[in-house]
Amino acid sequence: MTSKTEPMDPTERLLAACRRQPVDRPPIWIMRQAGRYMASYQEVRSRVSFMELCRSPELCTEVTMMPIDQLGVDAAILFSDILVPLEGMGLEVSFDKRGPHVAPPLRSAAEVAKLRVDGADEEVAYVYEAVRQIKAALNGRVPLLGFAGAPLTLAIYAIEGGSSRNRHAVRKLVYDAPEVLESLLDKLTTVVIRYLRHQVEAGVDAVQIFDTWGGTMSLAEWRRFSLPYTSRIMKALEDTGVPTIHYALGSAHLTEGLAELPCDVLSVDWREPLSLVREKTGGRYALQGNVEPGVLTAGYEHIYAAAKACLDDFGDNPGHIFNLGHGITPDVTVSAAKALVDAAKELGARS
Ligand code: CP3
Repeated sequence: MTSKTEPMDPTERLLAACRRQPVDRPPIWIMRQAGRYMASYQEVRSRVSFMELCRSPELCTEVTMMPIDQLGVDAAILFSDILVPLEGMGLEVSFDKRGPHVAPPLRSAAEVAKLRVDGADEEVAYVYEAVRQIKAALNGRVPLLGFAGAPLTLAIYAIEGGSSRNRHAVRKLVYDAPEVLESLLDKLTTVVIRYLRHQVEAGVDAVQIFDTWGGTMSLAEWRRFSLPYTSRIMKALEDTGVPTIHYALGSAHLTEGLAELPCDVLSVDWREPLSLVREKTGGRYALQGNVEPGVLTAGYEHIYAAAKACLDDFGDNPGHIFNLGHGITPDVTVSAAKALVDAAKELGARS
């Protein structure tokens, strides 16, 4: 029996799901739940740039709370960006209509050698202050997730200087100078460990590591350039007792490797049903996901059906955190997002 009939405390619900313990219903939150699809977020952004927003603990708190109030999700996620720690390492991070920019792009051993490691975590202390203020604002209503980018995904942004379709600068390093990529990954790993430990000390209840670009690598490359670094981060957090969630996009070909990660939860996209991922990983992980994000632009009957299909597929097995397979997009309405949350709560509460 994996269900509990007594309504649970929301923090307990998320933590129990991470640990594959019985819950009254699967907790739900949505990746990118605070963002451009919300008029209230757009209003804040009309006054400040995205990085100014990230540097203001007060504004981060205000924005983090928006989906708690407007959607009724079961978890908050720190409002920030995976690229923020790169700024602490001495790179310039900015965002415009085309997406993120990181300057200068790192292509050589000399450029990687110049990156700051010691003190990089302290440079972005505004993030930890945001965590403290958000925890105070939440006042126990729902748990707070912290996060960081996986070293590989951060390295790809730093090498390409932003989003890139074919990632040829990364490919060139993989072939011509893998040792340069490895020294960059090593530095990023050290910084991410310190960065996440600060978030935990400031009060986050669980952490998610985003390896959004991990799926662009072959299984062998991912095993070499991502698995050891992300594993190091997860092991370095073990003594904190905080559950760790790993997210990868387009990663069905990586499942065998993902199953070696020392984490509690695998967050997967929509390409394979959770039941299959569960089977492939021997039921050893809680799973997060995995409704296809585009359904939120369709009719509500499709949203309801997608929530039902996801919950039915996972069944009464322990360890499901309901979510999308990737972030919410700006063209979604708040009422569509709320319809998904309401459906997940209603359908997830099995008697
Ligand atoms: O609500 C939340 O999920 C918390 C905040 C959050 C943001 N980014 C805010 C954001 C989180 C957890 C992230 C993680 C992040 N950032 C990832 C991993 C998750 C994923 O989506 O795969 C990645 C790859 C990034 C890098 C990034 N940041 C990109 C590619 C972009 C631009 C395009 C886009 O998808 O929005 C950003 C900017 C960004 N990060 C915005 C927000 C709300 C939009 C900025 C704006 O207001 O203009």
